[in-house]
Amino acid sequence: MSVMRTKSVEQAIRETEEPEHRLRKDLSGMDLTVFGIGVIIGTGIFVLTGEAAQESAGPAVAISFVLAAIACGLAGLCYAEFASTVPVAGSAYTFSYAGIGEFVAWIIGWDLILELMLGAATVSVGWSQYLAVLLESLGWNLPTSIASAEDGVFNLPAALIALALTAVLVTGIRISSRLNAVIVMIKLAVVLFVIVAGLFFVKASNYSPFIPPTKPAEDESGLSATLIQTIFGSGPASFGVSGILAAAALVFFAYIGFDVVATAAEETRNPQRDVPRGILGSLVVCTILYVAVSLVVVGMQKYSELDPEAPLATAFRDVGHPLFADFITIGALAGLTTVIMVLMLGQSRVAFAMSRDGLLPRGLGRVHPRFGTPYVITIIVGIVVAVLAGLLPLSALAEMVNIGTLFAFVLVSIAVLVLRRTRPDLPRAFRVRALPVVSTLAVISCVILMLFLEVATWLRFLAWMALGFVIYFAYGRTHSRLARAEREPARVD
Ligand code: ALA
Repeated sequence: MSVMRTKSVEQAIRETEEPEHRLRKDLSGMDLTVFGIGVIIGTGIFVLTGEAAQESAGPAVAISFVLAAIACGLAGLCYAEFASTVPVAGSAYTFSYAGIGEFVAWIIGWDLILELMLGAATVSVGWSQYLAVLLESLGWNLPTSIASAEDGVFNLPAALIALALTAVLVTGIRISSRLNAVIVMIKLAVVLFVIVAGLFFVKASNYSPFIPPTKPAEDESGLSATLIQTIFGSGPASFGVSGILAAAALVFFAYIGFDVVATAAEETRNPQRDVPRGILGSLVVCTILYVAVSLVVVGMQKYSELDPEAPLATAFRDVGHPLFADFITIGALAGLTTVIMVLMLGQSRVAFAMSRDGLLPRGLGRVHPRFGTPYVITIIVGIVVAVLAGLLPLSALAEMVNIGTLFAFVLVSIAVLVLRRTRPDLPRAFRVRALPVVSTLAVISCVILMLFLEVATWLRFLAWMALGFVIYFAYGRTHSRLARAEREPARVD
């Protein structure tokens, strides 16, 4: 039964007050919204829009963005209620510890590594690719051996950006959120520029057909078919309605990050009010921008001609405005920087919470006496992200990040309902209306998106989860704070 032990919400909150584990409470609702936008707008809109339109959805990629936003919005409501009830560092991990039990909490913490650590590494690689585009337009080229893991040996720029941002994070949340705010402004300016300037180049003919007819995919088979195609035995195909859904499962990546806002709950001055505002506010802003950007871009260029690597910049270059393209490239670089930083921040806070609970070694959770940040775990996360970013190619990993995140959303949506039943007495500054309906729809919509991911992604995901099982039963189950508390009375006897 011990794997089902839960930590009470009161206990979770009390532990945050222990001096050696106390984080500085510095953030406001506005800071959180800026953090959210900082991590949400990134590779998804700057890169994946092109691939999603070209290979799966055509101009209807705008619908894919709406569908992904619906799934995120439903899960976001559940996150918001949970974060307003349990304002403790660690996001979905902490929520499930209080709502469902230790084992599920561990699984979700383990799963969040896919979203946060792998996500940060993935975006670091994207950052380095944009840097290459910029350097090229300035006439400089890095030797391939140190510029790419795919074609060379090690992706040095990707590793260096991860390490540089680690240094920023270690020195303190206040500095990093200020730096973030400046970069978010630049990124928003670039996105708005794409929408407004791009409108002048839109051609109605590029919108037809808006939903290209279904066509069989050429070389997709076995592992690269989506799970749903495999289940129903239909041949792999793209476009049509299922193409829109497959594109939604891919561009879901563009929304990842609003949940990270919840990981900063413990560092917020008024979490009950500000966390829901931060989550839902940043989600609404991003949805509007994404739909507008994707409509403009598929209107500027035929979907089949979009560049899968840098579609926004290339669209402007191809209509004869290379300077606009350079401006967008610089904005994308700035944008990706904040994404990497906030993902690493989220990862260090989740790992911090896990070590405080004893599911990871407790020494990892030490807080720096001067900076007030969990510096040990932040440095470890930074080094791992740098190594992964230096060694791994980007493409297959983006889907891994998506499946891990969707799974976390499913568990949170269930856990928030469980907590309503088990602890109806807890104060909830933000209550979801008709929660059973919202949480059920959140689970259904996330599972649907998961079904539209590739079989290979599912297999990797299951392998990662199996490893998590082994580690829990070998370490966490006996070392956790709750396990030790259970043993204590025995010793007194
Ligand atoms: N949503 C983030 C991005 O698109 C992860 O880069």
